Amino acid sequence: MKDVTSDLANTLLARIRDRSALVGIIGLGYVGLPLALTFVENGFPLLGFDVDPEKVEKLNRGEGYIRHLDGARIAAARAAGQFEATSDFSRLAEADAILICVPTPLTPQREPDMTYVDGAAHQIRAALRPGQLIILESTTYPGTTDERLRPILEAPAPSGPLPLRASVASEATPPTSLSLRGRAAAEAIPLRGLAMTVPLSSALPHSAAS
Ligand SMILES: NC(=O)c1ccc[n+]([C@@H]2O[C@H](COP(=O)([O-])OP(=O)(O)OC[C@H]3O[C@@H](n4cnc5c(N)ncnc54)[C@H](O)[C@@H]3O)[C@@H](O)[C@H]2O)c1
Repeated sequence: MKDVTSDLANTLLARIRDRSALVGIIGLGYVGLPLALTFVENGFPLLGFDVDPEKVEKLNRGEGYIRHLDGARIAAARAAGQFEATSDFSRLAEADAILICVPTPLTPQREPDMTYVDGAAHQIRAALRPGQLIILESTTYPGTTDERLRPILEAPAPSGPLPLRASVASEATPPTSLSLRGRAAAEAIPLRGLAMTVPLSSALPHSAAS
């Protein structure tokens, strides 16, 4: 039987190797924006998503809003045509890899408020397509990807049967690194000194899940 998982993973790996993979980042704040620029500066096209329209407009004008971040990096990314910001979350379908960088502020009970992560997961679910890699970068408790993200990403579409099976990066690996599970081999991609192991996460046609 044809191994759809491998095909999707290998296609993604090839796109990462040749830097044609479109990286999507949800949440363009203190973590998401520098990360976005690092991807651009390493040759990847980047589509950033934020709910704040003022931030989106500023970024698309090539301007920054984080004091310690050199605004020239944003201008250069825009001038190179490699960076765009948007509040149109239907465009998540365009991204080959999606990194969630939304806030997880502590509640009065000293637990992470997962409202923003849940919101981002639902936005991804609405646009999910086979072969996308989903990565949670937000600070949270162990088990979040499996227990919290997976059920949202695997939820059946309201209009019909479950069309997808999603896989998510394990939080057993450190942020900004991913493990490639399944039969496809892992590949280390150096990214500004970080070993970024790029991997799996594919949304598969349900019939191919077994
Ligand atoms: N700031 C740090 O130094 C740091 C370090 C390590 C980890 N973290 C973790 O990284 C995560 C992000 O932190 P941060 O400091 O970048 O937060 P931030 O508040 O600076 O930025 C978050 C961004 O996400 C946007 N946002 C909120 N909800 C959204 C949604 N549903 N869709 C799209 N965009 C949305 C906000 O408008 C904002 O621009 C948190 O979990 C935090 O704990 C932060």
